Amino acid sequence: MSSIFKSIDNLFNDSLVGSKVAIRGWIYRKFALGGKIFVRVRDSTGVIQCVVDASRVNKEVYDSLEKAKIESSVIIEGLLRREKRAPGGFEILVENAKVVSYSSDFPIKGGEGIEFLLDKRHLWIRSRRLTCVMKIKHTVLKALKDYFVENGWWEVTPPIITASAVEGGATLFKVDYFGEPAYLSQSAQLYLEALVFSLEKVWSITTSFRAEKSRTRRHLSEYTHFEVEAAWMDMEDMMKVAEEAISYTVSRVLEERRKELEILGRDTSKLEKTKPPFPRITYTEAVEMLRKNNINIEWGEDFGADEESVLSKKFEKPFFITHFPKKIKAFYMKVPDDNPDVVLGFDMLAPEGYGEIIGGSQREDDYNKLINRIREEGMDPKDYEWYLDLRRYGSVPHSGFGIGIERLVMWIAGLDHIRDTTPFPRFRGRKPVP
Ligand code: 4AD
Ligand code: MG
Repeated sequence: MSSIFKSIDNLFNDSLVGSKVAIRGWIYRKFALGGKIFVRVRDSTGVIQCVVDASRVNKEVYDSLEKAKIESSVIIEGLLRREKRAPGGFEILVENAKVVSYSSDFPIKGGEGIEFLLDKRHLWIRSRRLTCVMKIKHTVLKALKDYFVENGWWEVTPPIITASAVEGGATLFKVDYFGEPAYLSQSAQLYLEALVFSLEKVWSITTSFRAEKSRTRRHLSEYTHFEVEAAWMDMEDMMKVAEEAISYTVSRVLEERRKELEILGRDTSKLEKTKPPFPRITYTEAVEMLRKNNINIEWGEDFGADEESVLSKKFEKPFFITHFPKKIKAFYMKVPDDNPDVVLGFDMLAPEGYGEIIGGSQREDDYNKLINRIREEGMDPKDYEWYLDLRRYGSVPHSGFGIGIERLVMWIAGLDHIRDTTPFPRFRGRKPVP
């Protein structure tokens, strides 16, 4: 049997018609018609129809394919031909085949409920839909890395086991660290802040952990966090970096993942609008917009999913909300000189109702102001001794942000639930199985 295997997507090519081809993959669909078996085979690149005609293959080959169930792994060799009734317009007329491993009855047949599918997640990830989402996520990560590397930012590797909260104690996961309490990282930010004193512009991809109290469509307890931090940049500078990075990423996905977006049924005309500059509104303006839409909200209250969704439907591309009330944001955000009630923090929200995909800010770089903010929040400055050192030894203005990769993929792929942006999702109310 030929050892030159082709990727299935390379077979949809007129110049190969009439030639002998070999593929490897898994049986995706199968049916018999008029004495022939139609086996549709998938690999990581696509699906192709293979026709098994009893008069053209030996009995052993015919019987093996007749017996093989969905998801059996196979090697197939045959002649490529045009066939307008086959999906994609091509098919393989089988000459030889080998069932590498016969599959048992595959438990996912279609129509199963979500809990069952999550129990069988290790098998469900073979679906075309999840495969498309994983490819889109790959391209999102690759594009972001390319953007930051090409613009002179350094990749660094912060730790996951940490001693204190970044985003508030309420969502910390505690771990037993050789008998001492420690916590799983919520954000690499504080470590990235330390690293800008040598590298100036840094980024990292780490897993962040949040013990979210409720189960929602957009919260995971473990997610991929793409974070950036830079010395000498203020909030405005950082928002420009964020809008450029997101625009670049969306354009790369549109270039490289058209087929996957189409399979997912994503309306790409909505994504085409993602070009800088993104609209900017203040928190105060956002509150006014919400009130005009009959949403009862007081200045100073945080936005929940409902408020974000209303705002997010008013925009055709991602947009920023800035200058949040101090009391709803983290201790490290800088308070501007002209308004003690707000912080120089920004969120980027995706349109179409998706809501927050980025959280960022200019950091408080003054030692005295920072220690006061830590006390005001009821935290112990002793837990942040090392972080305070960063304001003792040559402090500089600096800013940064964090992108929730799964939130970004959820919007780009047009999904209605965050769980499908990650192969093995973790969220409250389910044991981490598989
Ligand atoms: O807004 P957050 O909490 O900001 C920070 O952690 C900053 N320290 C980041 C920084 O400045 N370096 O989280 C950043 C982003 C959010 O905008 C959201 O996209 C995502 O992380 N995120 C989550 N994604 C999935 N599940 C969760 N439970 C998430 N919590 C935050
Ligand atoms: Mg946030």
